[in-house]
Amino acid sequence: MLKVEGLAAYYGDFQALENVSFELPDSGVTALLGANAAGKTTTLRVISGVLPATAGTVTLDGEDITQASSEERVRRGIVQVPEGRKLFGTLTVEENLLLGGFSRRKDGKSRERLDRIYSMLPKLAERRTQLAGSLSGGEQQMCAVGRGLMADPSILMIDEMSLGLAPVIVTQMFGFVKEIAAEGVSVLLVEQHVQHALNAADRATIIEKGVTTHSGTSEEIRNDPKVREAYLGA
Ligand SMILES: Nc1ncnc2c1ncn2[C@@H]1O[C@H](COP(=O)(O)OP(=O)(O)OP(=O)(O)O)[C@@H](O)[C@H]1O
Ligand SMILES: [Mg+2]
Repeated sequence: MLKVEGLAAYYGDFQALENVSFELPDSGVTALLGANAAGKTTTLRVISGVLPATAGTVTLDGEDITQASSEERVRRGIVQVPEGRKLFGTLTVEENLLLGGFSRRKDGKSRERLDRIYSMLPKLAERRTQLAGSLSGGEQQMCAVGRGLMADPSILMIDEMSLGLAPVIVTQMFGFVKEIAAEGVSVLLVEQHVQHALNAADRATIIEKGVTTHSGTSEEIRNDPKVREAYLGA
């Protein structure tokens, strides 16, 4: 289980996170929701270790990893799919996927993982030799999530998965995420599509201006009057 408690973080003098606390169970989908600039991406960056926490703790299975390097966290199974996908456009789909498995290159299971991802996302198999830069938006997002899976994550954090995708692709991607979670990966989804995210997620946490204000089951969050007013227009 991953637990973050009282996280604070800065960009220079600007305090982006003030008090972020929530827990991720060992499997299932958890949504991290909030308005633009609330601190969602920053929270993922602190959990993945690319931005240091100035206060608070990140605990993985009871062990304090607040000071661990980002490489160490990837080795421990914490993997982030970045916002904006960040694929290598001049490499093929397969080359991008294989790069995702770099941290696990010594275990000899890259091929096995690749085949598994192709069977879950047949579209990627069809496109394996195509340059990533020439994929459609939805295909790029699949490739980015596939690349994250190549690292054999126990925690997969996906930032704005549905951004810019057609509704039918969004539904497909959420279905795929549920499948991954059912196999024992804990998925943390950062989303602006609150309704969609709550449908896909088991649990949700809401962040406002760098402070987490609500956490609960999707059902609890959906029925919270304040949440309904602020995020669901009801
Ligand atoms: N590299 C940076 N340098 C300075 N300020 C930053 C930087 N990255 C983010 N911020 C600021 O930190 C705050 C939180 O940003 P963050 O990207 O975490 O928000 P977010 O919740 O992911 O928003 P969005 O939904 O728009 O992606 C914002 O006010 C943003 O302007
Ligand atoms: Mg963001």
